[in-house]
Amino acid sequence: MAEMKLGLFIRPCGHHIASWRHPNAHDDANVNFDRFIQMAKTAERGLFDMLFSADTNSAWTTVDSALNRQHYAAWIEPYTLLTALAAHTSRIGLVCTKSTSFDAPYTVARMFASLDLISGGRSGVNIVTTGNPRAALNYSQEKHLAKSDRYEIADEFVDVLIGLWDSWSQDAFIRHKESSTYFEWDGMHVLNHKGKHFQVEGPLNVPPSPQGRPLIVQAGSSEKGRELAAKSADVIFVASQDFEMAREFCSDIKARAARYGRQPGDIKVLPGLTVTVAETQEEAQAKFDEMQELIHPELGLAYLSRRIGHDLTQMDPDIPMPDIDAVDDVGTRSGQMIELAKRENWTLRQLYQHFSATRGHMVLVGTPTTVADAMQEWFENGACDGFNVLPSLFPDEFESFVDLVVPELQRRGLFRTAYEGNTLRDLLEVPEPSSRFNAGGIQAAE
Ligand SMILES: Cc1cc2nc3c(=O)[nH]c(=O)nc-3n(C[C@H](O)[C@H](O)[C@H](O)COP(=O)(O)O)c2cc1C
Repeated sequence: MAEMKLGLFIRPCGHHIASWRHPNAHDDANVNFDRFIQMAKTAERGLFDMLFSADTNSAWTTVDSALNRQHYAAWIEPYTLLTALAAHTSRIGLVCTKSTSFDAPYTVARMFASLDLISGGRSGVNIVTTGNPRAALNYSQEKHLAKSDRYEIADEFVDVLIGLWDSWSQDAFIRHKESSTYFEWDGMHVLNHKGKHFQVEGPLNVPPSPQGRPLIVQAGSSEKGRELAAKSADVIFVASQDFEMAREFCSDIKARAARYGRQPGDIKVLPGLTVTVAETQEEAQAKFDEMQELIHPELGLAYLSRRIGHDLTQMDPDIPMPDIDAVDDVGTRSGQMIELAKRENWTLRQLYQHFSATRGHMVLVGTPTTVADAMQEWFENGACDGFNVLPSLFPDEFESFVDLVVPELQRRGLFRTAYEGNTLRDLLEVPEPSSRFNAGGIQAAE
């Protein structure tokens, strides 16, 4: 029987935007590494496939106002965090975001190949183009590039990244003392990439990965995002609010992947999932309601503004959604949120409450049985290969998930009862890709 894959989306305090105000929150998590060690250890106790961290190239700034005081705006840089967590974990995958708009592919290739060696084959990179236009201002750019240009760059970036990760054959480093040969010349491959956006000679100055190459993760759901993912991603994160949306996305991605000669199982589609679980429905609902009460309206409006791409912060939270156009450049969710508010006839407050809890992802509030029922329904009916779990509150809600939901999934045969394999590819059951140099097309430079 197929088993679902589970990622843990780590971040300080929790995924609910008011989580840090909860009495049990570890509200110092933005500066306290120990909080992340605890999350990682709980995730390994729950036999999770991977830890995932998102990243932005700017502080959490929606608009120029003091609203940022209401949310942690700064925390530990995720790649550094994961590298340190590698030493505190032994089986779980380590994945974080890097932006193709602000980093060079050679740098990113080195970083994740190194993390792969440090962790024994557990690294992956979530490729994003960065939706927040303010990030450009931190990188000597006057204006963020248009989305279509960003995706064009991302496409070439990923091609270079993969090419660099294929720089060395697995058996290149022979370390032969007698002949004084550290590596075999034939095992080194020079990329010589000359493209529109990048010129990269290679080879990479990091030896090959224990798992073939680090994993590529993607999280865009626009036309260009889907195409990039179908071509090269091993894992795809998506925000799907309902079953139909998830099933459409999953089948579309797998159909696109087939056009690149890939098998359906080669890509794992993991929608985000926020769970509030307790032994009784009433108890779970009470925990959920308690979190919703903690959202300050100013923060709710600021959050909407960032996601929708319009400044709504001066508006009365109790008016219906005004007539505004979606801002595609900030992401697909802009249009989805406006449409949902109009369809449901929601006020701005209702919309921000809904999204503060869900951030566009599926939300389940219930008992271990009802939560597992819903997860099973999605998993068994083509809507996903597993889930990226976004606990509303660390550590409480994640501990509840591991203690209550994981055993129920195991009881149903839907989730592993022990770690198998050694690498992240083994856990996720995504194949080790073949090197572009195997065909003998490009030879090592003299
Ligand atoms: C689970 C998940 C994680 C994401 N992580 C990041 C991130 O770390 N940084 C970022 O800039 N965007 C992140 N995104 C946003 C997407 O990668 C993408 O940039 C955005 O959705 C806009 O692209 P699209 O219009 O193709 O959907 C994430 C999205 C999802 C669903």
